[in-house]
Amino acid sequence: MTRIILIGYMGAGKTTIGRQLAMALGLQFYDLDWYIETRYHKKVSEIFAEQGEEHFRDLERRMLHELAEFEDIVISCGGGTPCYYDNIQYMNQQAETVYLKLDPEVLCMHLKMGRTVRPLILGKSEDELLQYIKDSLREREPFYSQAKHTLDVSLMDNYEKIAITIKLLREELGL
Ligand code: S3P
Repeated sequence: MTRIILIGYMGAGKTTIGRQLAMALGLQFYDLDWYIETRYHKKVSEIFAEQGEEHFRDLERRMLHELAEFEDIVISCGGGTPCYYDNIQYMNQQAETVYLKLDPEVLCMHLKMGRTVRPLILGKSEDELLQYIKDSLREREPFYSQAKHTLDVSLMDNYEKIAITIKLLREELGL
């Protein structure tokens, strides 16, 4: 049985890498945010706006517990998932956890280009965004770094590099 959970900051490429990794290993892929949106028939941004972040974190925890029972699966989590409750301990108990690590400057670039609506960074200027990433990454790093594996993906910005990342990830996981 193989179960892999990818964690890391918003814009780290968890979904892109997760989907490709699952395909390469013949596993099922799930994105936790999408799973929440499908189960609750609401966008994550709407849950944040209508019910607040605390409510979202509770749903996120419950849906993580549902998903992380499935077998032969790759799960990409939200950027905040490992940083609340005992989620990171639970993930480590259930799966091979991988932290996709990137520098704040690269994350900022990815998030600026991103088309996804992310409630935590909505309406921020470029300077504000970079400062926000630096501050929150400092707070989140102690959680992210508890993953069983860490992979620096700073260089991943085109398909060739995605393929290299998948190769490195498979070597790291021995799969
Ligand atoms: C969040 C990251 C988002 C989503 C929500 C909160 C966070 O997921 O779960 O907007 O706290 O970092 P992505 O990392 O997939 O953008």
